[in-house]
Amino acid sequence: MKTIDIDTLKKIEKIKKLKTCYVTTPIYYASGKVHIGNSYTTIACDCFSRFHRNLGVDTYYLTGMDEHGLKIETAAKNAGITPQAFVDKIAEETKELWANLKISNDGFIRTSDEKHVKLVQECFEKMLKNGDIYLGSYEGNYCMPCEAYFTKTQLGENDTCPDCGRPTQIVKEECYFLNLKKYENKLLDFIKDNPDFIAPESRKNEVVSFIEHGLEDLCVSRTSFKWGIPVLSNPKHVVYVWIDALLNYLSAIDYNSDKDAQYKKYWLNCDKVVHVVGKDILRFHAIYWPIMLMSLNIPINFKLQVHGWIQMKDGKMSKSKGNMVYPMEVVNNYGLDALRYYLVKEMPIGNDGLFSWDRFIDRYNTDLANDLGNLTSRTISMINKYYGGVIKKVEGINDVDKEIEELVEDVISGAIIDYANFSFQSALSKIWSLISRANKYIDETMPWVLAKEKDNDEVINHKLQSVMYHLYEVLRVTSVLINPVLVDASKIMYEELGLIDNEELTDLKNLKFLEDINLKVIEKPVVLFKRLDPAVELKKISEGNK
Ligand code: MSP
Repeated sequence: MKTIDIDTLKKIEKIKKLKTCYVTTPIYYASGKVHIGNSYTTIACDCFSRFHRNLGVDTYYLTGMDEHGLKIETAAKNAGITPQAFVDKIAEETKELWANLKISNDGFIRTSDEKHVKLVQECFEKMLKNGDIYLGSYEGNYCMPCEAYFTKTQLGENDTCPDCGRPTQIVKEECYFLNLKKYENKLLDFIKDNPDFIAPESRKNEVVSFIEHGLEDLCVSRTSFKWGIPVLSNPKHVVYVWIDALLNYLSAIDYNSDKDAQYKKYWLNCDKVVHVVGKDILRFHAIYWPIMLMSLNIPINFKLQVHGWIQMKDGKMSKSKGNMVYPMEVVNNYGLDALRYYLVKEMPIGNDGLFSWDRFIDRYNTDLANDLGNLTSRTISMINKYYGGVIKKVEGINDVDKEIEELVEDVISGAIIDYANFSFQSALSKIWSLISRANKYIDETMPWVLAKEKDNDEVINHKLQSVMYHLYEVLRVTSVLINPVLVDASKIMYEELGLIDNEELTDLKNLKFLEDINLKVIEKPVVLFKRLDPAVELKKISEGNK
């Protein structure tokens, strides 16, 4: 058998040595319903967490809600309820959505949680005391909806907000500042010394060039609204949302509390801490957050994984364009796996991905119904038809069989490395190359022709048996490799392949093409993904029946 190269082996070994992992999504603004774009991050982090857990890594997956700020105060006022009642409702709805999407988060932090409020107040006071936060006044162009000031060089045409494009207003207020300037060089050194701090590389370059242009101290408090965390020593100020929000990653794991076992395990001594963030919030995570940690004397023990946006054919998703797509709309009509698969498969690492219904239906039919679905049902039906559902290994294989075995080994190692690097698109492409090869293998070996030679012992007990065995192994390996993404299909496949509760044969860490296996498959496989008629579906969607 072909041997895997040393470099790949080393990478795999390193991944398999991981003991602990802490994965976080950004906390979502509690100002409205979560759409398919921001569900992407939660689904991708879920795949990432499941992958690590499947490898036996003790993984803590955190998500949550960003509940303070003017926007939320205003939304609550418009709804005629208190801001707390408003965010309580959104938090419940979001939790329910994540449960429906089978998100396996361990923690759900809300910035209105008592322990979070306490930590933010303590950290603010600590930075005041050490002089990194100081009182001053600020005048500048402020974007109300984004709750951010922008410098002249950052502003768009006619002083519009560079993020949302809306007009900014000149606002002057007394506020506290965080001294970013002081940490400029230290941060640049840190990024230089930790080349994999920000992935992908292009995003790292963006950050470095931003810092090299010079940082301005950051205004970190507001007096213009009330719905926020009051500064302990000067409560007319509330803490600016980003200082508040970023600390969620530590309050959730009980940093600075009496019971800080989780902080020790998932931060201080953790092998892999990954904050997954969209490109629009990179600056906050790559600049403000490490500077806050430096100021607080907390180790910067995290990596940033930056992703692009899910765009619609007509650009960004927005309520005004009426092009919003909500996750349950997809799940209720096409199933959870179809949504999870599409989102992680369509998002190239670092760039934007596209959501369009015609592409969604095309991917569903091609990848899920045809490739994976057909391979599964064809293989299981043939094993039943020719061998009463029993598969067993035979000796002495031919070149095509050998090629399949080598491909299986390559795909396992390649997919593990890709998953560990958050490259789901690439991992899934590799897995699908195996599925396609196996479908082609059926056409090449033509089992139905072999099966006609009933009296030929060599064909029936060797050649055909070997084809069935190899197909079975492809399916077993596939069902394990797709498990972090296609949570439902993988379980059904385990059941159909006789693998339920068989921890040994579904163990990702030791996954390989097996020398010996003796199992029975289910008699009647279900249709994993029912083929869709694109014309019918697109018509339904355009008529708004979805
Ligand atoms: N509350 C802040 C994050 C604080 S983290 C300490 C925030 N919230 S958000 O709700 O506006 O956005 C949350 C995440 O959703 C961001 O990473 C953002 O990039 C992501 N997305 C929002 N729209 C998106 C798409 N259309 N596609 C992919 N991700 C998108 O920012």
